Amino acid sequence: MANKDKIQTLIEKTAEAELGGGQDRIDVQHQKGKWTARERIHNLLDQDSFEEIDKFVLHQSTDFGMDKKRFPGDGVVTGFGRINGRPVYVFAQDFTIFGGSLSLTVSDKICKVMDLARRNGAPLIGLNDSGGARIQEGVSSLAGYGNIFMRNVLNSGVIPQISAIMGPAAGGAVYSPALTDFIFMVEKTSYMFITGPQVIKAVTHEEVTPEKLGGALTHNATSGVAHFSGKDNQTVLTMIRELLSFLPQNYREKPPCVEPTDDPGRTDMELREVVPESPQQPYDIRRIIDSVVDDHYFFEVQARHALNIIVGFARLNGHPVGVVANQPSFLAGCLDINASIKGARFVRFCDCFNIPLITFCDVPGFLPGTTQEYGGIIKHGAKLIYAYCEAVVPKITVITRKAYGGAYIVMSSKHLWGDINYAYPTAEIAVMGPEGAVNIVFKKEISAAEDPEKKAAEMIEEYRNTFASPYRAAERGYIDEIILPEQTRPKLINALEFLKNKQERMPAKKHDNLPL
Ligand code: HXC
Repeated sequence: MANKDKIQTLIEKTAEAELGGGQDRIDVQHQKGKWTARERIHNLLDQDSFEEIDKFVLHQSTDFGMDKKRFPGDGVVTGFGRINGRPVYVFAQDFTIFGGSLSLTVSDKICKVMDLARRNGAPLIGLNDSGGARIQEGVSSLAGYGNIFMRNVLNSGVIPQISAIMGPAAGGAVYSPALTDFIFMVEKTSYMFITGPQVIKAVTHEEVTPEKLGGALTHNATSGVAHFSGKDNQTVLTMIRELLSFLPQNYREKPPCVEPTDDPGRTDMELREVVPESPQQPYDIRRIIDSVVDDHYFFEVQARHALNIIVGFARLNGHPVGVVANQPSFLAGCLDINASIKGARFVRFCDCFNIPLITFCDVPGFLPGTTQEYGGIIKHGAKLIYAYCEAVVPKITVITRKAYGGAYIVMSSKHLWGDINYAYPTAEIAVMGPEGAVNIVFKKEISAAEDPEKKAAEMIEEYRNTFASPYRAAERGYIDEIILPEQTRPKLINALEFLKNKQERMPAKKHDNLPL
């Protein structure tokens, strides 16, 4: 064959491979409101930066006439490219080829980019759209899943791993995304579940639609399995790019700084008015976060789950930080099971990737009740304690109002080796709230008084003046400084600057034993 014919052959084979399962199946994909694997990759990465590998790989299965059904590349598109100029590795399941189902060959391709990502210290992004295990391949396909899970765990904490669910993810197929750091879902076209509606109906007689069972809203709001959702393919891909802008390439690097566009000395007198006069009155902690961070820009994570705690990324003078904040406007900001897990997972992620933690504390305690106790609030609350204790990144805390009891200790207190702990003059740092404390400690005096109500009010006032302030904690050095609210931003930026060379390590060990 002449050289020009060889070149022509390559061009034709490439065009064939890039058509995936064929134009008809691409049309069906589009009719469902979904994009093809290559369309997704091209819209995720910087323009023209995608380098595809393994384009001509074929599956090896022969059962059920599969030897006559082979598509170049099989059911996944893999390779590398750039996001905001920085290298990433990517795979996108191709639903037009056997429904994106996972053959051993598909898993080999995915494992290859996972290994490349880990060895080269660059993030891995998986775009999922698959009917699960390739039914015709039997146990080979299951082996493929195992091979991927193994890599997910090897990569965990080495490089950021991000999953987007853009179509089905059923059965064991959900577990690779679940082992990654963040899960994005496309509203209406994606779902995740271990067992589908038919199996559920047969076993438990419950009737549920795929959307209700495992759609984007379910996993973002109810289960907390997912971290982000977007209304369509492009929204989700843009959000992934945004998330990566806060993250380092791997655990050895610091997160990327941007040229600051906001005044580091900016103060906000209105912050004096945010904490209400009455300790019973709620307020939105976002008001403080938004005021303090660069350009008022906060990239919230799990915004629809466990609303009593807020977590997300922001920048302070151009440096990425992870923000954790109790939210007094939901469940009074109490810590419960979901909030503890949400907070702990986020704190651990930030610590993996050298992202300093800023904690805003206004917490009346752990949520009381049998649901919480039976559900294991003890072990789940322990996760948040554990996460803050083991985090060696710079940890700065601002107590805006309540810091009561165990919850005070949890929220990055000095005792868990918080580096710099600030309090507003409105802070109340005590074992519990004044009403509860007085009713326990002065029960006899109150009931013996001529006017028990008046006596209780007096005792509450006395208790509040004595303990419900930041001064007792400041006397002991548990609070480093009581700051004026308007100074929060410059104080945080300055403290971060002085903590940027922090060196701290947990003792050498095989691995820790986080309460699960
Ligand atoms: C092989 C599959 C497939 C699979 C879909 N296809 N799933 N081929 N193995 N698992 C093929 C179909 O035959 C069809 O081929 C094409 O993909 C598109 O599928 P449709 O059914 O036409 O698409 P749609 O109507 O959108 O439905 C999508 C679907 C459905 C909901 C995902 O296909 C489905 O229920 N598939 C099976 C899901 C499943 O039970 N998977 C196994 C889970 S157990 P043609 O040639 O017609 O285009 C599992 C264990 C993993 O994954 C354990 C890991 C630890």
